[in-house]
Amino acid sequence: MLHVNENYAKIKPTYLFAEIAHRVSAHLEANPGAKVIRLGIGDVTEPLCPAVIEAMHKAVDDEAGRSNFHGYGPEQGYAFLREKIAKFDFQDRGIDIAADEILVSDGAKCDCGNIQELFGPDVKIAVGDPVYPVYVDTNVMAGRGDITLLSCTAENGFVPSPSDLPDEGQPDVVYLCYPNNPTGAVATKPQLQAWVDWANSRKALILFDAAYEAFIRTPGIPHSIYECDGARTCAIEFRSYSKTAGFTGVRCGYTVVPKGLCAYTADGTPVELRPMWTRRQTTKFNGASYITQRGAEAIYSPEGQAQTKATIDFYLGNAKLMREALQGLGYTVTGGADSPYLWVDVKGDSWAFFDRLLKEANIVTTPGAGFGRAGEGFIRISAFNSRENVIEAIERLKGVL
Ligand SMILES: Cc1ncc(COP(=O)(O)O)c(C=O)c1O
Repeated sequence: MLHVNENYAKIKPTYLFAEIAHRVSAHLEANPGAKVIRLGIGDVTEPLCPAVIEAMHKAVDDEAGRSNFHGYGPEQGYAFLREKIAKFDFQDRGIDIAADEILVSDGAKCDCGNIQELFGPDVKIAVGDPVYPVYVDTNVMAGRGDITLLSCTAENGFVPSPSDLPDEGQPDVVYLCYPNNPTGAVATKPQLQAWVDWANSRKALILFDAAYEAFIRTPGIPHSIYECDGARTCAIEFRSYSKTAGFTGVRCGYTVVPKGLCAYTADGTPVELRPMWTRRQTTKFNGASYITQRGAEAIYSPEGQAQTKATIDFYLGNAKLMREALQGLGYTVTGGADSPYLWVDVKGDSWAFFDRLLKEANIVTTPGAGFGRAGEGFIRISAFNSRENVIEAIERLKGVL
């Protein structure tokens, strides 16, 4: 008899966005023709920038001829892309990361989800609460149900600190995501440095999700965990081109695993994680496509950098308009300055507020409760939309709130 992985029964059966989609379709059925504005799911709305399109067209042409055709590529990613990443995302910012410490993938979700395969079944995990659900669900699927939740509240500026950890049973792995999804909060260098110092002192590991790094505009806010002293010996970092350059449909990202970063066997023998992650990826993944990686490379050209920055500035402009409007209506709002997300304190039940905005204003948001217990009382609003829709949404919000 086939025995099922019963851990799957322990994850929430419906994914948050499936429930939202269900409520939106019920609303549309009851109100045919309602012009719904979707500020819920965090998908981009602006097309790929011209530099990326041009590079991808050229890469398609490469594939059309025998001389430039590319079949299976290097599983860790093409050197042309890894070298650009090392230079532009790290070395030019004074960060010590080399091209062979970077593994290109088809996005941060897979990497954030798969990384836990490198750790023992009994490692203790901690995550922020509210949280991007992938960190929790992938650990629960693997049988790690005892997860420490670190409350992110207005009191701690939505950034937990190692002093929030229990004295007994401290975690071995902490997931940190800044700029944060869903709260839009950013972490300062001293806040991240405290986590790095804690992790090094305990031989623990930080999994740093920097998927929204490109939205940081405030000087001094770290773009990478490796800006902190000692992070090379205690942190893995995930990056994504999804929100940076509109690659949600194209699919590309990367993970940084520094040389010398270790986990330990039961008898305390260190085992390097970079060769393990390489082995995992080369066994279970065959690389992002050549065309995709040529597109990603183009993000680092002068034109690509200017064009992607302009698109992010546009989304940040949307965020600013909505933040100011909500603040004007008396709401306390986090995020939206260095992040595409606004985290709005609705001072009440988040699903009820979601339903109210849907019914009265035809606006879709994301109820904070869907991201964890500490998300109750908040809604997340995404700035990924057209300016026209954002302006219309603001008018509607002013009408109902
Ligand atoms: C915090 C966070 N990490 C990772 C991802 C996944 O990114 P990707 O599209 O690269 O898989 C997302 C996407 O929404 C995210 O919000």
